[in-house]
Parts: sequence; C-alpha cells; structure tokens
Amino acid sequence: MASLTSYTLLCCLSFALLLSSVHSANFSDLFQPYWASDHFVMADGEPLELKLDNDSGCGFGSKKKYLFGQASMQIKLVEGDSAGTVTAFYMSSDGPNHNELDFEFLGNVSGEPYLVQTNIYVNGSGNREQRHSLWFDPTVDFHTYSILWNHDHIRFQVDGIPMRVYANNEESDGLILYPKDQPMGVYASVWNADDWATQGGRLKTNWAHAPFVSSFRAFEIDGCEAGGGEDGSIEPCDKEGGTNWWDAPGMSRLTPHQRRQLKWVRAKHLVYDYCNDSGRFAEIPRECKGKL
Ligand SMILES: *[C@@H]1O[C@H](CO)[C@@H](O)[C@H](O)[C@H]1NC(C)=O
Ligand SMILES: *[C@@H]1O[C@H](CO)[C@@H](O)[C@H](O)[C@H]1NC(C)=O
Ligand SMILES: *[C@@H]1O[C@H](CO)[C@@H](O)[C@H](O)[C@H]1NC(C)=O
Ligand SMILES: *[C@@H]1O[C@H](CO)[C@@H](O)[C@H](O)[C@H]1NC(C)=O
Ligand SMILES: *[C@@H]1O[C@H](CO)[C@@H](O)[C@H](O)[C@H]1NC(C)=O
Repeated sequence: MASLTSYTLLCCLSFALLLSSVHSANFSDLFQPYWASDHFVMADGEPLELKLDNDSGCGFGSKKKYLFGQASMQIKLVEGDSAGTVTAFYMSSDGPNHNELDFEFLGNVSGEPYLVQTNIYVNGSGNREQRHSLWFDPTVDFHTYSILWNHDHIRFQVDGIPMRVYANNEESDGLILYPKDQPMGVYASVWNADDWATQGGRLKTNWAHAPFVSSFRAFEIDGCEAGGGEDGSIEPCDKEGGTNWWDAPGMSRLTPHQRRQLKWVRAKHLVYDYCNDSGRFAEIPRECKGKL
C-alpha cells in the first residue's frame, strides 16, 4: 500500500509539472519550412495545410534540436482518396549514424482505413516497424499525436493513449542501443510513397485527386534545447530547476491505467510488429525480449 501511495503521489506531481511547462506555440516560433514552402497554406490563427501534388510534397522542421522531451501536434489527415500518400510526424538527428522516431500515416483509397506505422532508428539503422489501425477516422477531425523521449523509454501516443513504448534496454556491450546522445529536430511532411505505402505498393497515387492536404495545429515542444555551439556541444538542461518533468520518477514507466490502454491498443489495433516477424528476422531482434 505504501508503494501505491507514493506512486500515486509521483504520478500527480509529474502531471502538475507537465501542466505548468507545456504550452502551445505559434508555428513560426518553433518551426520553419525545409521543403517546398510554396506548397504550404499558412494563415494566422488557421491550421497549417501541407499539400502534395504531382509537382512536389513539402515539409517543415523545428528551428532547434532537442535532447529528450516531448513533441506533439494535432493533425487532420488527407481525406478521401489518400492512397500512395504518407503524412509524417517525426524526430530525427542528422548524419549517417542518425537516430529517428517516426509516426508515418499511410493513406488508403476512399473508405479504407489508414495505417499508422511507427519506426525507431538508432545509430543509422531502423527496421523496427510496428503498424496499427486507429479507433477513429483520422481524416474527419484533428487528433493529438505525441512523441515522448526520456532516459527510460520512447512513447508514441495518440490522444494521450500510448500506442507504442520502446524501452531503454541498452546493453553496455552495444548489442542493444538506445538514442541518448544526439539531439533531434521535430519534423512533419506530406509526400508520395506509392512504391510501398498502400497495400504493399499495389495501390498508386491517383494524381487526378490531387492536391492531397493534411492540416496541422497546436504545436508543442517541451525539451532540452541543444546548445547549438560550433563544437556541437550539448548544454546541461534542467528546466524546472531540478529534474525535467519527462524524467521525473513518475515518468519512468506507464501508470497502471496507461498500461491497460497500451494492452488494449495492442490487442485491438496492432496489425504488424517487427518483433513478431520471423520471416524477416532469422533471430528475433534482441531488444524485443525486453519489457513492454
Ligand atoms: C501567436 O500569434 C498571434 C498573432 O500573430 C499572437 O497574438 C499570439 O499571442 C501568438 N501566440 C503565441 C503562443 O505566441
Ligand atoms: C500535374 O497536374 C497538373 C494539374 O492537374 C496538370 O496540368 C499537369 O499536366 C500534371 N503534370 C504532370 C507531369 O503530370
Ligand atoms: C554505429 O554504427 C557505426 C557504423 O555505421 C559503428 O562503427 C559504430 O560502432 C556504431 N556505434 C555503436 C555505439 O554501436
Ligand atoms: C488499406 O485498406 C486495405 C483494405 O481494407 C487494408 O488491407 C490495408 O491495410 C489498408 N491500409 C494500407 C496502408 O494499405
Ligand atoms: C504474430 O505472429 C503470428 C504467427 O506468425 C501471427 O499469426 C500474428 O498475426 C502476428 N501478430 C502480429 C501483431 O504481427
């Protein structure tokens, strides 16, 4: 009972810190276009629209890079025929040995469901895909997608519900790696991926239905800003004058309620897990044996 009480206390304490430190910012406070700004529709106070047509997709990225923290945004995905298109929200560092945390929303023909692919790259290698269906139509309304990255785990959340948790099971012999020392930028884009995205690449983008438009709003990034010094140094960061909320003790694991939610998502909405793909991996990847 004692441990339950202190656990509850920690949970609520970290929740209070979360409320005090997260705030929505205007797009231009945090982000800038990195690809085809002529395909952006941007107006003060309106959601930002990104367009894909037969000429180009487009994308934006954060002005700063962050080491640990949480990024979230609300997205309304391409409606109607979105086959062949991918809308992405991701965090990434630079260089050949980069780290990356991906949400990729794989479009479909009208009336058929989107799939959400998540992936994790560490030291330049990905191949850690999961795919989920959603419990709502993501083209009708805005929903909140967030990536939480702390020293203990990476959490992909949809409307606050954990969809995927990737634990830090790092091993000192380097056989399991965890992203921990490269600051990442926060990005979003809309692009053509009809060679693989929809029904294994069999369904191509129908350009007669272009432009394909996804909308974005309610941008939030709360993380340690990387120093950005010429030497690439990373400055220490303790935003709350102590531990950052994402590394507070209550954040090192899911709450019992969140664990139930994750179980529900896995039972009802997980359609592919690389950890379960023996046709692809002769040996199940080592990190798959860890805790959820
Ligand atoms: C966003 O911009 C509008 C006007 O451009 C301004 O009134 C508002 O305070 C800004 N909001 C934030 C969170 O910076
Ligand atoms: C791209 O789309 C425009 C407008 O639908 C059309 O006029 C043009 O021919 C297309 N270009 C290509 C290369 O398909
Ligand atoms: C990261 O990958 C490179 C090869 O691209 C390798 O030389 C290096 O040892 C790897 N780092 C770790 C920590 O395993
Ligand atoms: C598209 O719809 C088909 C048929 O319902 C489904 O099998 C597939 O998983 C859906 N999503 C994608 C990205 O192909
Ligand atoms: C896991 O593998 C089994 C056996 O191949 C398969 O029946 C099941 O659908 C897979 N589940 C997921 C979520 O990939």
